[in-house]
Amino acid sequence: MKHLLSISDLSKSDALGLLDTATELARVSDGPMKKLPTLRGRTIVNLFAEDSTRTRISFEAAAKRLSADVINFSAKGSSVSKGESLKDTAQTLQAMGADAVIIRHGASGAPHRLAQSQWMTGSVINAGDGTHEHPSQALLDAFTIRKHLSHGENDLAGLHVAIVGDILHSRVARSNVLLLNLLGAQVTLVAPPTLLPVGVEHWDANISFEFDDVVGNVDAVMMLRVQQERMQELYFPNAREYSRYFGLNRDRLKKMKSHSIVMHPGPMNRGLEITADVADSARSVIVEQVSNGVSVRMAILYVLLAGAPIEMGSLL
Ligand code: CP
Repeated sequence: MKHLLSISDLSKSDALGLLDTATELARVSDGPMKKLPTLRGRTIVNLFAEDSTRTRISFEAAAKRLSADVINFSAKGSSVSKGESLKDTAQTLQAMGADAVIIRHGASGAPHRLAQSQWMTGSVINAGDGTHEHPSQALLDAFTIRKHLSHGENDLAGLHVAIVGDILHSRVARSNVLLLNLLGAQVTLVAPPTLLPVGVEHWDANISFEFDDVVGNVDAVMMLRVQQERMQELYFPNAREYSRYFGLNRDRLKKMKSHSIVMHPGPMNRGLEITADVADSARSVIVEQVSNGVSVRMAILYVLLAGAPIEMGSLL
C-alpha cells in the first residue's frame, strides 16, 4: 500500500492490519517510551487547504511519535492564498524531499490527483477531500467501536451503527459506510430527505427518516455535524426543528441499549445535532475518538512508510 486515498482501496485484511497496528502502537503510547525510531530521517508534510484541528494535530503527533520530521503547511498564510496551483505546491514539496503528504482539500478528488500525478513521488494520505472521503476518520471510528464493542479484536460483524444527520455534505459518512460494511457491521443512515445525497439508495446502508425508530436498536450512534458552511440553501426549517427530529438529546440517550456508545467526529455544534449533556455523558466516546486518532494515524504512517503492518502482540 503506497497511498491512503479511499476506504474502497482497502481489502478487509488491509483494514484489520491497520487496526491491529494501531492497537500495538497504542500500547507503546501508553507505556513510558512514547516514541519509536521507525521514521527517523523521513519528512512528512501536513498540507491543509481547509481548516482542521483534530486531523492536522493528530497526524503531526503521530508522525513525531514515529520520529519523523514534520512540515506544517496551511493554505492560509502560504502562496496557495496568492493563487498557487496544487501542481506548483506539490512540486515545491517534492523539491523539499517530502516522503509523504497528508492533504486536506475542499475539492473532492484532490488527493487522487496528487497521487496519480508525476508532481511528487511520496505517499499521499487523504485527510478529507470535499464531500468525498475522510478515510483516517473512518479508521479511527472503527478502532473506537472495536475497542468498546469487540474488545479490541476481530472485525465488527454483528454490530449495528446509526450515522445520523448531514449525510449530504459528509465525507465522514461515506468513508464510514464503506469501512463498516467491509468489517461486517450493519449501517443505518438517519437524516431528513434533504440531507441525503443523490444515489444514496445504492450505498450499502439502510435509510430511515425517523431517529426515534432507530436509536434503541443500534450499538453505536454516530452523530454528524450540520455543515452550515457548505449550505447555500435551506435544508431544514430551523435549528429547533432539526434538533427536535434529528438531534441526540437526553430522552433519546435513555432509549439507547445499555452498552451502546455515542460518537461524533467533531467539531460539534453543541445544541444543534447533540446536546451538551449527551456530548459530555458517560456514554460519549467523543474525546476518546480524538486520542484513538493518534494511534490510528501512527498506524497509517507506519504501514505506508515502513511497508508492513505490525502483528498483534509482536511489539511488546
Ligand atoms: N473530524 C475532523 O476531521 O476534525 P477536524 O476538522 O478538526 O480535523
